[in-house]
Amino acid sequence: MRVISCLFSLWISIVFICTPVEGVKSYLFKTCEQSGFCSRNRHLAGEIAKAGGEYQPRYSVNIESILAHDNGTVSGLIEKSLNDGSVVGLPFTISVLEDSNLRLTIDEARRLVGGLGVSNGKLKTRRYNEAADWALQDGKPRIAEKGAVEVKTSSDSLQLKYGEYETSVQYYPFKVAVKYKGETQLILNHDNLLNIEHFRTKEEQTAEDSIHVSPEESTFDSFQDSFKDSKKDKLPFGPESVSVDVSFVGYDHVYGIPEHADSLELKDTVGAEPYRLYNVDIFEYEINSRLPMYGAIPFMFGVKPGFASGVFWMNSADTYVDIERVKHGESTLTTEKRTTSHWMSESGVLDVVFFVKESPQELSTSYGSLTGFVQLPNLFSLGYHQCRWNYNDESDVLQVHNNMDKYGIPYDTIWLDIEYTEEKKYFTWKKELFPDPDRMLSVLDETGRYMVVIIDPHLKVNYEVSDYVVKHSLGVRDSDCKKTYHGHCWPGESVWIDTLDPEASQYWSELYVNGSRLMGNSQNLHIWNDMNEPSVFNGPETSAPKDLVHFQNWEHRSVHNLYGMTFHEATYDALKTRFYNQRPFILTRSFFSGSQRTAAMWTGDNMAKWEYLRGSIPMVLTLNVVGMPFAGADVGGFFGDPSKELLVRWYQTGIWYPFFRAHAHIDSRRREPWIAGEPYTSIMRDAVRLRYALLPVFYTAFQESHTVGTPVMRPVFYETPNNVASYGIEDEFFVGNSGLLVKPVVDEGATSVDVYLPDDELYYDFQTFIALHGQGFHTVEAPLEKIPVFIKGGHVVAMKQRYRRSSKLMKYDPYTLVIALSSKGSASGKLYIDDGETFDNELGDFVNVAFTFDGRKLSSSVTGGLDQPFVQSLARVTVERIIFIGDLKPSKEIKVSQGGEQWVAQYESSEGAITIKNPQVKINSDWTVSV
Ligand code: GLC
Repeated sequence: MRVISCLFSLWISIVFICTPVEGVKSYLFKTCEQSGFCSRNRHLAGEIAKAGGEYQPRYSVNIESILAHDNGTVSGLIEKSLNDGSVVGLPFTISVLEDSNLRLTIDEARRLVGGLGVSNGKLKTRRYNEAADWALQDGKPRIAEKGAVEVKTSSDSLQLKYGEYETSVQYYPFKVAVKYKGETQLILNHDNLLNIEHFRTKEEQTAEDSIHVSPEESTFDSFQDSFKDSKKDKLPFGPESVSVDVSFVGYDHVYGIPEHADSLELKDTVGAEPYRLYNVDIFEYEINSRLPMYGAIPFMFGVKPGFASGVFWMNSADTYVDIERVKHGESTLTTEKRTTSHWMSESGVLDVVFFVKESPQELSTSYGSLTGFVQLPNLFSLGYHQCRWNYNDESDVLQVHNNMDKYGIPYDTIWLDIEYTEEKKYFTWKKELFPDPDRMLSVLDETGRYMVVIIDPHLKVNYEVSDYVVKHSLGVRDSDCKKTYHGHCWPGESVWIDTLDPEASQYWSELYVNGSRLMGNSQNLHIWNDMNEPSVFNGPETSAPKDLVHFQNWEHRSVHNLYGMTFHEATYDALKTRFYNQRPFILTRSFFSGSQRTAAMWTGDNMAKWEYLRGSIPMVLTLNVVGMPFAGADVGGFFGDPSKELLVRWYQTGIWYPFFRAHAHIDSRRREPWIAGEPYTSIMRDAVRLRYALLPVFYTAFQESHTVGTPVMRPVFYETPNNVASYGIEDEFFVGNSGLLVKPVVDEGATSVDVYLPDDELYYDFQTFIALHGQGFHTVEAPLEKIPVFIKGGHVVAMKQRYRRSSKLMKYDPYTLVIALSSKGSASGKLYIDDGETFDNELGDFVNVAFTFDGRKLSSSVTGGLDQPFVQSLARVTVERIIFIGDLKPSKEIKVSQGGEQWVAQYESSEGAITIKNPQVKINSDWTVSV
């Protein structure tokens, strides 16, 4: 973020005394009222509500236009009627996708050049319709199989039937309702808020006898933005927003649409600001806020017992979402209670996918199949990341590195922030400070360590990289479509690479090739992409002016929210080309739906305060339920200096973030774990070691997320979707499907927590093995050294308990299995193993190990590439300990069998547990242990 540098002019230092100002500068960001399209659409919603039954909706389907195609897609024309009786044609399509999701698109047959109000006529004139191409896996969704959809038309509506689904499209007023198992779940345009601001010229709009302005629409900010720094924005297409309401019928618990520093459950916005999706660099953001943040995932869903329904709004323009719980749905379509969502985007087409499933997990799987699942991370990136702005030079880096080992704290990655470069010119190193990066990286490599360095999309003017970009027109352009745009960021005057352009991405790749100036030859250097909203210090709302121009002359306005993703995807492709068969790791700050395929994200510039620690949990949970699980928050807080207690509690929470990194602002004091001293250092060390011991659990959770979309940090309601009382729990969570339930301590001075058990299963304290039982809240002790973690009865987890300096050094370490008996005395669990770094898993070199315990016999069954090289090398990996927790009375002899041989293992009993010592079984083939 912008540092308020002491070198700034004197008056600034007097006012700010060289410290950051408290609180977000919310005045930098438009409220709905200050944003033309949001204000107009809210105004319209208000007018419609006021008019009640008197309101004459404007949108209807032209019956003659309907065409049912043999793949089950229906297309046609929606007509928007204007005051003079004329109509605007809006072509639509409805298609049933694979997995019974429904896609609706509405476009506008906009007039082409001429009277467009675009001075040079060069902008793409049609509405932007490519957000889905970027967001969806493989660009296009797969349509349902031929013959799977039955289409029926009648005089007032058309019906699509597929499996247990039935979608009806009412012609007038236009509405779409999705029914599943006979119950209406979602209704589009229930409240008639559909509003496609059709194309019109300024003259047409302002003419006194205008036929093109609807009485309900205000003309606020239609052709000229009036907000502060946005005033130069002439809005070349005039008003062009798309907006509609979607009702979640029978639902009052809704989730999603990050990124906001807010609760897990979405709140009503009546009389308040809507949730805004607009990627911005938000300085010192506040907790409990709907202000926009760095990334946007326009996916929202509701959960009720037996059902979960979602709406995916594939639009990358500035978007606001209003939410309201409605007690009675008095209408022809439903009388049930419902939650309405009012989606308002500044430009683009209407392109929306509806999902209706039976549980939130099914929804996550379906959303992931459509947009892509999270990458399977390089294992090192699940370890501990040590970062700060900045480690100053090579010796500083190596000192931190050595101290980690001295204090017995495992870590995998050390990071360099912007100061490592020569004058913030990316792809250079400051030679006096880092004379030989390859040498430094090879020292790190000796103990399996990695480095991540930062590369941002702004390029300082007048050096070879930016010169190339300007010369070849690979940058984001000014509104004249020609000149490269210049703005300010870290390096001062800069230009921005336009990674929507394949040629620009190609050039980006070349900068990373093996032997390049930045990357040298090392294979243990990965990349952090920051400021890619993009952050522009002198731009409107700290970002790029909306009338800038991208590849193929699309306006920035329409692609704003996906620019950051195109940038980190270009980096991913570059690293993939560079590395010999290694999974790239990229951290991005800005993201969009689809980002999960190639990057991890973090929640940006938080503060070293308790409320930010507390707020990080619902934020990371929200990202997990919208398919972006590789997420974390800066441990310790970015701005300011945490107390020792806060730092300890943050480590104890941070070890559960899927992405676990400590980071700090350049003005904050050093706070590597050994600095706090005892007992704090040992407590933090133990927390980090617990993360490492559980790496097999995290890796398995990521593999499940990578294949079926399971959240890695998984909200309690995913475990008990029929328990409505669990829907609002946002301060505890499960780790994937492992059965581990965590309730971090996030309050100053707290020495106990109230943990909520969502069902009647046994939950064993993971340290003492003492069982809790009974749905509801239980108070448990949590002195500073204690993390409240429980394992739910019925689960098996695999751990690696030997301390090693890095995850790489643990590769062939033996496993400890923990078997937590259910109230019925049984348990099961999974372990996924591959080499953790290459793509050989895609060739079959991996195994899935399934553990089951039936009360007497524990069986391990291994499937996968048993004859593959890495899997074969696992023959040296054994199970060194099996711990049964719960009520188990073993027989005198414990018999082990594997590969046709049998032997007897020793065990010992302690309070609440039986431990089998060194059963000597190999992990890569089947075995049984009879107790
Ligand atoms: C941004 C990032 C922060 C980083 C700083 C300097 O503020 O969010 O993590 O340290 O820029 O690069």
